[in-house]
Amino acid sequence: MNPVPSIITLDGPAASGKSSVAQRVADTLGVAFVSSGLLYRLATLVTLQRDVDANDVAAILAELDLHDVRLHADPNGNRLTLDDKDVTDELHTDAVDGAVSIVAAHPELRAWVNARLREIEGSFVIDGRDMGRDVFPNAAHKFFLTARPEVRAARRVGERSADLAAVTEAIRQRDEGDQRQSRPADDATLIDTSDLTLQQVIDRVLDTIHATEGAT
Ligand code: DC
Repeated sequence: MNPVPSIITLDGPAASGKSSVAQRVADTLGVAFVSSGLLYRLATLVTLQRDVDANDVAAILAELDLHDVRLHADPNGNRLTLDDKDVTDELHTDAVDGAVSIVAAHPELRAWVNARLREIEGSFVIDGRDMGRDVFPNAAHKFFLTARPEVRAARRVGERSADLAAVTEAIRQRDEGDQRQSRPADDATLIDTSDLTLQQVIDRVLDTIHATEGAT
């Protein structure tokens, strides 16, 4: 890795494998891993818990302003604290999954998340939807992972107790809700992970990084 701080972005749709890949790539390179989706999930959790209207972005931001929100990029996984309470385990529920696209669609809320992300210092690998295109356009390396919806649904069924048809439908709905903010950067490397193992995707990302760094 360069001695100067460098940012690697890994974007893609729900259950495309981006966070597992980002975490392992960060580990291999010895830099931090950051999951931007957790901040959208935190904003959604607060919205649901305080009974705020998910369509009312001013009310959501006013509620968020009352709290101390921190993202801790621990090597063993990101933790989110809300007024010193660790709420990480509450962020991956069906209720949050169901509302997060509505909350994340507000440009003002995206600005709130992005301001927090841009404060992070040092080198890191970050996953999300728009990291390479909108938030870190000068990132050293950009990747966009895709996978067929049925492959992503099958992966998610392994993580949560639910049936395949319901998960496929939930993923289809979230793709629709996330569509506008899920476009790859023009200079991102696209990887279809449908027929690749996790290790193969990691190797492809690392090979691309090393090839580019070797060429400069
Ligand atoms: O990556 P994830 O599935 O944990 O993200 C949760 C939601 O947050 C996702 O449905 C869309 C939103 N999101 C976003 O709009 N932009 C990002 N950079 C990351 C996540």
